[in-house]
Amino acid sequence: MVESRHLGTQRKSIIAISLAALLFVIVRLTNEVNFLLILNCFEQTGVKWMPFSDKQRRPLRTHYGYINVKTQEPLQLDCDICAIISNSGQMAGQKVGIEIDQSSCIWRMNNAPTKGYEVDVGKKTTIRVVSHTSVPLLLKNPDYFFKETNSTVYVIWGPFRNMRKDGNGIVYNMLKKAVDSYPDAKIYVTTEKRMNYCDGVFKEETGKDRVQSGSYLSTGWFTLILAMDACYGIHVYGMINDTYCKSEAFRKVPYHYYEPGRDECDEYFLHENAPYGGHRFITEKKVFAKWAKKHTIIFTHPNWTLS
Ligand SMILES: *[C@@H]1O[C@H](CO)[C@@H](O)[C@H](O)[C@H]1NC(C)=O
Ligand SMILES: *[C@@H]1O[C@H](CO)[C@@H](O)[C@H](O)[C@H]1NC(C)=O
Ligand SMILES: *[C@@H]1O[C@H](CO)[C@@H](O)[C@H](O)[C@H]1NC(C)=O
Repeated sequence: MVESRHLGTQRKSIIAISLAALLFVIVRLTNEVNFLLILNCFEQTGVKWMPFSDKQRRPLRTHYGYINVKTQEPLQLDCDICAIISNSGQMAGQKVGIEIDQSSCIWRMNNAPTKGYEVDVGKKTTIRVVSHTSVPLLLKNPDYFFKETNSTVYVIWGPFRNMRKDGNGIVYNMLKKAVDSYPDAKIYVTTEKRMNYCDGVFKEETGKDRVQSGSYLSTGWFTLILAMDACYGIHVYGMINDTYCKSEAFRKVPYHYYEPGRDECDEYFLHENAPYGGHRFITEKKVFAKWAKKHTIIFTHPNWTLS
């Protein structure tokens, strides 16, 4: 009796192990990268699924396309409602700081300041997505970005030539130095694979090859792609839609809320029509509107109507 019960348990565990091994092999064959992710989901008691992604239903949390400069670990980020604050001059005078600070994760871009603009844009920053070209702007004020606000996660995107880790990546080297001086700073870089993925999304959505069409993706593009993976819902503040600059309701505002001068719509038209080296802001906004219909994304200040 004892013997056979023991055998029974043994058989069960053999079956369990074989099943696990089989699952392992299948997962390795189908998608080597997501194996850890699946393991992760067995450990979780209540697995949360992204409610708004059609093609990629998977648990949140680990983002393998973003690697910590100091620890080489992937980014862990799991948010409920995210606020993404545009750098646009549209944010001036909006007085939504308190509302923004109540979001579970607050996303800002490049060196957009909060100090002095708290009433309009809020004061908390969970994550900052930063272009490789804006890294020197952070390094102008490292005590502020990497010490005073050391709970903020920095995600830096950039082309491989600047981000390579072999000593020749000029931006990666700057970041490496920064974490040497500020060991608490949480700085992540976007992997080459993830960069290619983001280019791929542009091609898929617009039919245009980013490189051949002579354009650069914007920091907003990288931000939204990561936010769609990390947030259950997204509220974008201060971003204009693709027809805004030609609409009746158009307001003339600076390109950045923290910098007088350059006009937002002038800048958008200039970039959209540049034969090379431009950001396709207007094209990107058209794509964002499409994503907003599929995912839980709202755009306000100014409002977008998504039918
Ligand atoms: C961040 O900064 C605070 C205050 O300057 C400090 O007490 C803390 O140890 C730092 N590190 C982390 C990881 O928060
Ligand atoms: C914009 O949208 C917000 C939230 O959806 C709403 O409360 C507000 O009244 C709208 N503003 C305008 C000018 O339509
Ligand atoms: C785009 O913005 C303009 C100006 O705010 C507005 O009149 C228009 O309805 C918006 N279109 C969409 C599709 O959101």
